[in-house]
Amino acid sequence: WSQNGHRIIGKIADNHLTADTRNAIAPLLQGDKLAEVTTWADEMRSNPEPFWQKESGKWHYINIASADEFKPHHYHLSATDGEVTDIYAGILKATAVLKSANTSLKDKQFYFRFLTHLVGDIHQPMHAGRSEDWGGNKIKVKFFGKETNLHSLWDKGLVESENLSYSEFAEFIDTNDAKLISIYLASEPKDWVLESFHLAQGLYDIGNGEFKYHYVYEQMPVIKQRLLQGGIRLAGLLNHIFDESAHAK
Ligand code: ADE
Ligand code: ZN
Ligand code: ZN
Repeated sequence: WSQNGHRIIGKIADNHLTADTRNAIAPLLQGDKLAEVTTWADEMRSNPEPFWQKESGKWHYINIASADEFKPHHYHLSATDGEVTDIYAGILKATAVLKSANTSLKDKQFYFRFLTHLVGDIHQPMHAGRSEDWGGNKIKVKFFGKETNLHSLWDKGLVESENLSYSEFAEFIDTNDAKLISIYLASEPKDWVLESFHLAQGLYDIGNGEFKYHYVYEQMPVIKQRLLQGGIRLAGLLNHIFDESAHAK
């Protein structure tokens, strides 16, 4: 997602944190709002250090050839001390670091910012797209006559076509429907990957690649669902990591 998408997810998550989680994450927010820290992992990519320019780039997505090829249990062995190779490993690693009692505050601040970003990105279907077209980045399309690409359309174009600020968008789609929330929370990161992967499969069928109102009408419910799921699940994960009492629930 671009800035708006991430902030919508962060704002929704903020609405669903418990009081204990709020207290526990205060030192990690460093005075910022949750919606604001979600975009840090992208902003830092203009930092001249090689890690930011190149290495951290692959933390933002995963390319799997098929649902069968994605074997989440392989990651469990290496995620905590292994190198982060994709967004799924990034989410597991950040979760492990934040749960650990022996991590420095500086590391926690870093992985907290990353986690809030990666839980967002994994809900953008094209972040689990095909490797050969760089998750749709190489697929040219037009949106209301303007040249863009399939990845960017999903990161940004569709979200911004609603013409809402991030907080307006969050308010518009957020929910207190306990049943829906519990359905969204009954899932884990591997499910989020596979949901995006399956959605992306359908999005590659682009017809003549010239999209306008009809595409917005058709896909906006998917955009809204992915942003809402991202927000609810980010809150769920943070409550799980930081709120001791949430474990009993
Ligand atoms: N962004 C850059 N490369 C990508 C890829 N291969 N898949 C998804 N998103 C990407
Ligand atoms: Zn993207
Ligand atoms: Zn990203």
